[in-house]
Amino acid sequence: MSVDLILGLQWGDEGKGKIVDCLAPNYDVIARFQGGPNAGHTLNFNGNKYVLHTIPSGVFHENIINLIGNGVVIDPINFKQEIDKLIELNIDIQKNLFISKKAHLILPTHRILDAASEQSKGQSKIGSTLKGIGPTYMDKTGRNGIRVGDILSKDFKDQYEQLKAKHQKLIDIHDYEYDLTELEQKWFEGIEVLKSLNLVDGTYFINDLIKKGKKVLAEGAQGSMLDIDFGTYPFVTSSNTVTASACIGLGIPPKYINEVIGIAKAYCTRVGSGPFPSELEDATGELLRKEGHEFGATTGRPRRCGWLDVPALKYTIMINGVTQLVITKIDVLNEFDQIEVCDQYRLEDGTITQELPFDIAKSTIESVTKSFEGWKTNINDAESFDVLPELTTQYLNYLEEALEVPITMVSTGPEREKLIKKESLALS
Ligand code: GDP
Ligand code: IMO
Ligand code: MG
Repeated sequence: MSVDLILGLQWGDEGKGKIVDCLAPNYDVIARFQGGPNAGHTLNFNGNKYVLHTIPSGVFHENIINLIGNGVVIDPINFKQEIDKLIELNIDIQKNLFISKKAHLILPTHRILDAASEQSKGQSKIGSTLKGIGPTYMDKTGRNGIRVGDILSKDFKDQYEQLKAKHQKLIDIHDYEYDLTELEQKWFEGIEVLKSLNLVDGTYFINDLIKKGKKVLAEGAQGSMLDIDFGTYPFVTSSNTVTASACIGLGIPPKYINEVIGIAKAYCTRVGSGPFPSELEDATGELLRKEGHEFGATTGRPRRCGWLDVPALKYTIMINGVTQLVITKIDVLNEFDQIEVCDQYRLEDGTITQELPFDIAKSTIESVTKSFEGWKTNINDAESFDVLPELTTQYLNYLEEALEVPITMVSTGPEREKLIKKESLALS
């Protein structure tokens, strides 16, 4: 009886969708446990590209159950769009998609509140995806939220109107102009779609499956550096994105957690504002963006790019209890003469450290780098670790040693088949 986890160890967009899609055949259930339509998980197979936002990345595999857990927030508008696309692709949603009745709903006014809040912050805005994530989690913890299961109750419309009225008062404080008509119409259309789907008590649902010996892979969204508690606060998302969150967001005991598969890009990216010690605001950063096609899967915004940040990775590996590491997008470095890694931080007072300071969002941190000679070889078609160039192996060996976690998989391209695995790879 066990659950494995896939998590992003940086600021999101590490390639979680692709890795979940690759590993899905080893599991019976893929379960999302937090986040919502702020996520954009890209899958590439049979020459096509698909981006999923709220729906787990196992949905394209027949005979796999996909569960949206209670920790997720759902916007019926985006959700309907995602469902419509899957139906067009002949995916049997009725058979393989299940939604926890305890998941919270994003209202149109949550989205407007998100935008109004960002506008009022001016220069210090978070750079939110404007999907209403923050305001929805605020209502959840403030005990005002509306949950998926509520759509089946007689007083659902009243609940909606009450919460909307509360939001409207808040929006007025921000002096923010908005028009709800179209959004509301689409939202209620989305509610009808939700009603037609498998709404379950996710807690019993997943625990029953685990008891029956089914193998579960929990799919994280965002990344640990965006975690509400452990990320670069306040430039974070509004949910916990770390291992512990899978227990809360699905209702499973910690004793079931087995492998924690941490995903890191071979470099770093960040969308939105906030500290990024190894950021490159120069031609090298531009080259990383170009080679890595670093534009947001949800918002299309250019992603900020920089070298791999070892102190940040050591930290996120520590808080997640990562048991194995996947390095993605290594092929993006194919053309670089020199590859650098942020190995330590130099703080304002000159201290050299590998620890993240508490006030990281207010500090100026300089990155102390280590240099590696680039392999200057196309490694996209490598099928095993053994055939990687010596210089690539040296880079991976350094990472394994510095991070003290085995690298069990390396992703060499966006497509499903571009994944090399160590023979020692252990999954539940
Ligand atoms: P996620 O949010 O963690 O699922 O990641 P995104 O889908 O937002 O961003 C990852 C991007 O990199 C997507 O466009 C993927 O198709 C692409 N990708 C994933 N793995 C690789 C890889 O190993 N090499 C390259 N070149 N692209 C990759
Ligand atoms: P996936 O799952 C990258 C970022 C936003 C912003 C901050 C807060 O695809 O890795 P929010 O809308 O959550 O209030 O925005 O978090 N952010 C992400 N960045 N990937 C994501 O998800 C993200 N989800 C949120 O850009 O800086
Ligand atoms: Mg993404």
